[in-house]
Amino acid sequence: MSAVLEVRGVVKAFGENVVLRGVDLAVDEHRVVALIGGSGSGKSTLLRCASLLEVVDDGQVLLDGEDITDPRVDADAVRRRLGVVFQAYNLFPHLTVLDNVTLAPVRVHGRSRSEAREEALALLERIGLADKSGEYPDRLSGGQQQRVAIVRALAVRPRVLLLDEITSALDPELVGEVLRLVREVAEQGMTIVMATHEMGFAKQVADTVCFLDQGVVLESGPPAQVLGDPVEPRTRQFLSRIIDAGRL
Ligand SMILES: Nc1ncnc2c1ncn2[C@@H]1O[C@H](COP(=O)(O)OP(=O)(O)O)[C@@H](O)[C@H]1O
Ligand SMILES: [Mg+2]
Repeated sequence: MSAVLEVRGVVKAFGENVVLRGVDLAVDEHRVVALIGGSGSGKSTLLRCASLLEVVDDGQVLLDGEDITDPRVDADAVRRRLGVVFQAYNLFPHLTVLDNVTLAPVRVHGRSRSEAREEALALLERIGLADKSGEYPDRLSGGQQQRVAIVRALAVRPRVLLLDEITSALDPELVGEVLRLVREVAEQGMTIVMATHEMGFAKQVADTVCFLDQGVVLESGPPAQVLGDPVEPRTRQFLSRIIDAGRL
């Protein structure tokens, strides 16, 4: 099986601060990879390098075997094959929910307005938000906004969904509805890479957990192993802090 997304020896520094020191990661089709690691360990930077929002200093990122970090590659065309959702402020505030979801399919992918609209409404229906299609984002709860952001990312039929701590900015009672949607999307076969602090969720939904530490993937494997019986002392140390914080 060849990887949908492969990160090979990626190095990324901001000035003197070398954040990624040679990160390797392979994500096979229909698989869910959870990226864990302390704050500042480079999870966001890695996802931003993978989605070409940052330029890597060394190494490669391959999407379906194509080196997308090659400077000759059309970055906009590559981004159209990716679905990206961040921690917050994902939706365009001046567009209705429906227009948020149909914008890229129509403007970027050239789908007809009616087809995009139909598909968007079906997606919104599925997450119980069809009745909000005419609302502006600020009329939705944070959880509803993030669910719309996920649906918007899916509307372009991406090869892989990159999720960067998408529940971190939410009130605790809204986290569940967003994670339920991610789980559904995973069960339908979407390939997903998600940076998360939700260890319980990673345990249930991820096929692989990668622990990022000091600029490398220090340990990766099935969630039961990495989260339940880590090999590396630093993984153990990280997890014990998470347990102390009541998150595992
Ligand atoms: N645009 C940037 N400019 C300068 N430093 C950055 C930038 N983005 C991230 N960093 C630094 O990179 C390190 C890793 O950050 P980040 O990838 O956000 O970690 P994480 O998502 O794991 O918390 C931090 O030290 C952060 O300050
Ligand atoms: Mg981050």
